[in-house]
Amino acid sequence: MGDDPASRVYVNNKKKACEEIGIYSEEYALPETTSEEELLNLIDKLNNKPEISGILVQLPLPAGLDEEKVINRINPKKDVDAFHPVNVGKIMVGNYDFVPCTPAGIMELIKESGIDICGRECVVVGRSNIVGKPMAMMLLHANGTVTVCHSRTKNLAEKTRQADILVAAVGIPNFITGDMVKEGAVVIDVGINRTENGKLTGDVEFETAEPKAAAITPVPGGVGPMTIAMLMKNTLKAAVINREEK
Ligand code: GUN
Repeated sequence: MGDDPASRVYVNNKKKACEEIGIYSEEYALPETTSEEELLNLIDKLNNKPEISGILVQLPLPAGLDEEKVINRINPKKDVDAFHPVNVGKIMVGNYDFVPCTPAGIMELIKESGIDICGRECVVVGRSNIVGKPMAMMLLHANGTVTVCHSRTKNLAEKTRQADILVAAVGIPNFITGDMVKEGAVVIDVGINRTENGKLTGDVEFETAEPKAAAITPVPGGVGPMTIAMLMKNTLKAAVINREEK
């Protein structure tokens, strides 16, 4: 909804990924003036449409719309973002179908890089519902020792310097500098920030962090493409789940 330029790019990338792998998709680009009721009616329509397996409402919504109410309206079995409280609860318990796409992508990156999480010190900087909180849960399920830091954390650098695996998801450009990174750490940068001159930059100062890190994700081209891949994976899973329901 509305005309958030970053959302436009993300939605285009998601549509492109669907086309590339043969997933049928529909886009509803609603104007900012659309009422909450109209949006909820559209979600109801898609909830009841058998050929639609997954529904995603791109966030943020324009001011005045109740994001929680909108997310709660999505059928949890079609909630490929895993934002619905039913899916959030299932992740907490450890018996889940969908994982939010960004944490799922990060877990895949760690696994495919042959990095062991079990017993390691994992520090997540950021506590959003989309990334920080589910990321912490996923690392915990993989037997990491997890610390979640945020804007009110005191002595942040002291905490981040403990991390074997450091996940930065704060949305502040170059917030994590090399002196905050332990020698040999794995550094995952979730940030996608646009600087004044239009350049994309992460939450990690790559130049100073990279020499200390055993492995580090770049921005762009690190976590972002994995997020999209995991959305496709969740959608395929939803198709199977909803087919079995019929
Ligand atoms: N806005 C930023 N990230 C996301 C995401 O993963 N899903 C949705 N729906 N909106 C977002």
